[in-house]
Amino acid sequence: MIKLTIDGKTVEVKEGTTVLEAAEQAGIYVPTLCHHPQLTPYGGCRLCMVDVEGARTLQPSCTMPASDGMVVNTKSQKVLDARKFVLTLIFSERNHFCMYCQVSGGDCELQNRAYDEDMTHWDLQPNWTPYDVDASHPFIVLDNNRCILCRRCVRACGELVGNYTLGFEERGAKSFLVADYDVPLGESTCVSCGTCVQICPTGALIDRQSAYQGKETEVDHHISVCTECSIGCVRDVLTRDNRLVRIEGDWDTEPSNGLLCENGRFIPLEEDRPRVVTPLVRKDGSLKAATWDEALDTIASGLGAGKGLAALASTKLPAEALAYFKSLFADKLSADTVTTLEEGAATASLSKLAEKLGKSFESSLDVLKDTEAVLSLELDLVKDHQVAGFFVKRQLQDGTKLFVAGCDDCALAANAKVTLPLNPGSEAVLLVKLVDAVENGTDDADLAAVVDALKAAEKPVIVYGKTFAANADEIALDALLKLADLTGAALVGVKGNANSMAAAQLGLEAPFKTEGASAAVVVLGDEAPTAKLTKDLEKVPFVVALSAYESQLTGAADVVLPVAMWAEESGTYLSMDGRLQKAIKSLEAPEGVLTTLETLEKIAGAVKVQPDQDWKTSLMARIPTIQIQEA
Ligand code: SF4
Ligand code: SF4
Ligand code: SF4
Ligand code: FES
Repeated sequence: MIKLTIDGKTVEVKEGTTVLEAAEQAGIYVPTLCHHPQLTPYGGCRLCMVDVEGARTLQPSCTMPASDGMVVNTKSQKVLDARKFVLTLIFSERNHFCMYCQVSGGDCELQNRAYDEDMTHWDLQPNWTPYDVDASHPFIVLDNNRCILCRRCVRACGELVGNYTLGFEERGAKSFLVADYDVPLGESTCVSCGTCVQICPTGALIDRQSAYQGKETEVDHHISVCTECSIGCVRDVLTRDNRLVRIEGDWDTEPSNGLLCENGRFIPLEEDRPRVVTPLVRKDGSLKAATWDEALDTIASGLGAGKGLAALASTKLPAEALAYFKSLFADKLSADTVTTLEEGAATASLSKLAEKLGKSFESSLDVLKDTEAVLSLELDLVKDHQVAGFFVKRQLQDGTKLFVAGCDDCALAANAKVTLPLNPGSEAVLLVKLVDAVENGTDDADLAAVVDALKAAEKPVIVYGKTFAANADEIALDALLKLADLTGAALVGVKGNANSMAAAQLGLEAPFKTEGASAAVVVLGDEAPTAKLTKDLEKVPFVVALSAYESQLTGAADVVLPVAMWAEESGTYLSMDGRLQKAIKSLEAPEGVLTTLETLEKIAGAVKVQPDQDWKTSLMARIPTIQIQEA
């Protein structure tokens, strides 16, 4: 441990701590701009300068290591003058006329730092050559005129996302931010994760949707789990006057620590499907608005006693609704088919195996953040579940070896040391060969490269996708477990939707089937139905859809009940690695629209049954398949 004195206060910190971190630990505030806790220190802006006894000049506290006996002053006149001078230079270098800037009013760190130092103006005449604003990206606007050259965006795109899209051209004060080799951002290798926008301290990188939609003081924040996939990133949903303004990552929460992907951050803001806002009942061939009583009576007589009934639910629904759905249709109405919309047992086969073995093999997502060798099976982490892909991609520059099987044309394969051919259905063949290669050696150079790297790694990982889970037979699964055992690899199973794991825990894994059904209830929530589902249901004589949005499927249904969309209901989600997390309601649903759970309760009332309300016990019943942790 190291002992130093900051502003007269003695602080004890671990070796390797910077002066800035030591000051934070002592509760002493030092202003920063280029520094960000998620990034490696850069020392570019000089705002964090402090007086260190014995040093000839002021020192940047964000890069300076604390040392034993150090005496630091963060509030001397010299320091205060230097801060104002640094801010003056930054303000005068580009266009910082705050009243015309989207982030002005609480969101701009530069403006906020100026207020902290009681600056009302600056004494230097601004002098810069204007830059073109780059508005080529579907979600992001880059305005170099408001850039302070802190390079947080460049570091974030590389260090956190592993995408390395951003960089600088020219030198010194003339530097400007570019994408790739100075192509428009919208034509670059950017994967639209928005991390650079979130981390930019000024209005140089902004998102198109939230621009000028509300100052920091005018928006409400709702910290909530993302419901777009099974990773379970925590996000901050910003709303104003009951509408979405922006979605940001939460820097302080595992597993993604601020990272989101395009689906979690930007796509929900683009939603433009028309809402279902009232019950609809088919009369004389066309759907007509109806009262709840009328719609529920039609459902009660159309469903009969459950014979010939298929009940299908989205795995984007909260666990409470999924458990109630199962109890209502499987336990109380004895429907022939009660399963998810995943069109097969895509997420369930590995859970089944774990149940059979009586032990969990689902590793925490964290293993992907610190590994020297990764084998990816039938999964494109660049396209789907992108944040898990970021964890892997950002380590490749440090020598982490990536091996990709069954994803030849995918973007992830471009980063792989070796790609192995794997067609759906031949999982067992490849895995048995890999096990044999570990046990007996092999002449196949590619197989040898994979097993040698997995064996040599201290923390190897095997990550598999839902295509693998859907196709792997027991031989493949046994071989997978053996390979993991022999090489010491952690196993990570990437599930599909946000609550695929909860659905598997609830045993909602019967094969997807509507053939021969005389009635079907489809609980879509806000999930868009596939063309295949819509077509399959055409043959079912009586279809009930619970949906937030209109679609071809709802247009063809016999009864449609409106339900809340993701932001309008609270609920619980089980991530792919077993974290139980809360989604928090951030918007009010349109008048008369109920949550999915409340709507299912109305159906239960209409058919006069009382489903089990204890969703948590139902969810836990399948333990020890996974170890559920409340997050
Ligand atoms: S980026 Fe910040 S300092 Fe610059 S104009 Fe916008 S609000 Fe003002
Ligand atoms: S949005 Fe993501 S990928 Fe695109 S430039 Fe920004 S950080 Fe890089
Ligand atoms: S665009 Fe923003 S984050 Fe990037 S260097 Fe400029 S001010 Fe910093
Ligand atoms: S915050 Fe330390 S130099 Fe920028």
